[in-house]
Order: sequence, then structure tokens, then C-alpha cells
Amino acid sequence: MFSKNYNSNNNIILMIFLVLEIIYLFIINVGTVNGDNYNLPRFEHPAKSDGSLGIMVVGDWGRKGHYNQSQVALQMGVIGEKMDLDFVISTGDNFYPNGLINVNDPAFDESFTNVYTAPSLQKQWYSVLGNHDYRGDALAQLSPILSRKDSKWFCLKSYILNAEIAEFLFIDTTPFQDKYFTNPGDEVYDWRGVLPRDKYISTLLKDLESALVESSAKWKIVVGHHTIRSAGIHGNTQELVQKLLPILQANNVDLYINGHDHCLEHISSIDSPLQFLTSGGGSKSWRGGYNWSNPNEMKFYYDGQGFMTMKITQTEVDINFYDILGNVLHQWSASKSLISTI
Ligand SMILES: *[C@@H]1O[C@H](CO)[C@@H](O)[C@H](O)[C@H]1NC(C)=O
Ligand SMILES: *[C@@H]1O[C@H](CO)[C@@H](O)[C@H](O)[C@H]1NC(C)=O
Repeated sequence: MFSKNYNSNNNIILMIFLVLEIIYLFIINVGTVNGDNYNLPRFEHPAKSDGSLGIMVVGDWGRKGHYNQSQVALQMGVIGEKMDLDFVISTGDNFYPNGLINVNDPAFDESFTNVYTAPSLQKQWYSVLGNHDYRGDALAQLSPILSRKDSKWFCLKSYILNAEIAEFLFIDTTPFQDKYFTNPGDEVYDWRGVLPRDKYISTLLKDLESALVESSAKWKIVVGHHTIRSAGIHGNTQELVQKLLPILQANNVDLYINGHDHCLEHISSIDSPLQFLTSGGGSKSWRGGYNWSNPNEMKFYYDGQGFMTMKITQTEVDINFYDILGNVLHQWSASKSLISTI
């Protein structure tokens, strides 16, 4: 009798531990329960043992290897090996022309798994959705089924990645742009989870602002698909200039990284430290278009294919843009003192 009771007590204790563990997992992944004032899922990616990070950024890529996508991928593999890559960031428009049909769409293998095959690229890919991804089953790309098919895949609409010395805030920018709602033409967008739109945008902006205010990371980096400032054919995204840019400037964001314009580009600010980096050269490119009037802001513009790398330490960030032959097209660095001055 006693031993039976003892066993069932043991089971209850085990159950309690299990429940506590589930609550704990929930707490480390969801900010609100943690006492934070935002509701964005939060993930951790450790820096290297020397405290540094090696990151690659590519955007606007999924074309089954065509339009030099395979060549870009090959060169990413070569550079990734040299720089000891920690993870890859995809700035969206992951699958052309209309996202994925569903989780079984063969385009996932044809445009992702079978293209980025280099050993150095078998790291976590942190992705956001672009406007083309919204033209298919937008939720398919967020499904854990894809991460089970290819463990390097990771995509959510908006989330935070804490990588010790740097915090990355991934933002779903497609819902911001008016024309997809007011003038969609023949395109059908999958707005599940986005409507009502005003509430979605205001909640996202509030969450982003709270997360930035609370962040104690040395480097704050915001990633979205759409441009804020760009000389390419899409140009500036006015909705983001109005709604997102003031939050980034007020909270000392160091870098805004995007795709959308199919080019490689670096625009600097003259009124704040914020840098605008476009890495949208993952496949189809060469679209012409250059519209920028202030030469003091424009640091680099390349209308062809390629990708960007970042090396980040406590005190320094180094940016490099590469073409498909592995030539460095543009280099830029910024430093901060070891002691935070705020
Ligand atoms: C592929 O890249 C080469 C070298 O940059 C370029 O000359 C060529 O036009 C590109 N091809 C396509 C289809 O974009
Ligand atoms: C160039 O950019 C400016 C400012 O963003 C914009 O007002 C203008 O319409 C653009 N011109 C063209 C030809 O796209």
C-alpha cells in the first residue's frame, strides 16, 4: 500500500516538474509571460566562444536556381566557409513568383534545400516574409513542418533573436504597404492573421518599440523585407518612413536591413547613426533604376546579384558586399567603445 502511494506521489511530482518545464519553455520563448512589455516571440542564438558573430544576408532569391541564384549560393558557400558563419538572414521574397502553395510545395526543395547545399550554409536561416511570399499560402512558410524537412529553415512573421552582443528584431513589413490592400490588381494576398490591418500594424509597432526600449544589447539590428530608404526601382517605402523609421531613430537602432529592391546597397544617415542596408540580390537582378539625390548618404549601389556579410564583435561591426564571383564590392565598419555610454 505504502509503496503504491509512494509511486503515485512520485508520478504527481513528475507531472508537476513536467508542467513547470512546459511553463519554463513558454516563458523563455514568449516575452509577455516573462514580464516584458511586448508580445513578440523571442529566441536565442549564442555567439562564438570569442564573443563574435559571423552572419550572411541574402534576399529575393527563390527561383529554382535560375537567374544566377545557384551562382550566388555557390559563392555564399565559399565565403561562408572562410568567415566561419554562425547564421544566415533571409530578407524575404523567399519563393517566386507566388510564395509556397502549401507545406508540400516542391519549390521548397527546388529553391531552398537543393540550392544552398554548401556545408558552410547548413546553419540556421532566420527568415521573414516578402510581398511575393504573401501571394501564396503565407502560413506554410511559418510551419514547423518545413523546419522538420530542412532543419536550417526558420521563418516567422515578426520575432526577436537575441545573439548576445546583438539583438535582431525581425519585422513583417508587407502589411504596412497600402497598395497591396488598395490596388492589388490580379494578385491575391493571404492576409490570414493580419486583419484587422490597423490593429496588426499598431500592435507590431508598439511591441517593436517596447522591445527596443528594453533591449540592453550592444548592437540593435532591425530586419524587414521592404526598403525604408533605397535608390532602386521600388525606392523608399513611404509607409515605413512614416511609421517605422521614427521608432528606429528614437531607439538607437544601428542597422536596418532589407531586400525588396533587387540590388546591393548602403545608404547612410546624416541625422543619425542608422545605416540602411539592402541585400536583395539573391537571384533576378539587373533592373536598372537609380534615384538618389544626396551623395553624402549614398555609400554604395550595385544593380547586380550578390549578398552581404556582417562580422560583429562587442566593439565593431564590419559589413561586406560580395558579387557572384566573390569580389568585395563595398566595405564599411563602425565601432563602439567597450563601455556603454548610452
Ligand atoms: C549572371 O551573373 C553575371 C555576372 O555578374 C551577369 O553578367 C549575368 O547577366 C547574370 N545572369 C543573369 C541571368 O542575371
Ligand atoms: C526619385 O525619388 C524621389 C524622392 O524619393 C521621388 O519623389 C521621385 O518621384 C523619384 N523619381 C523617380 C523618377 O522615380
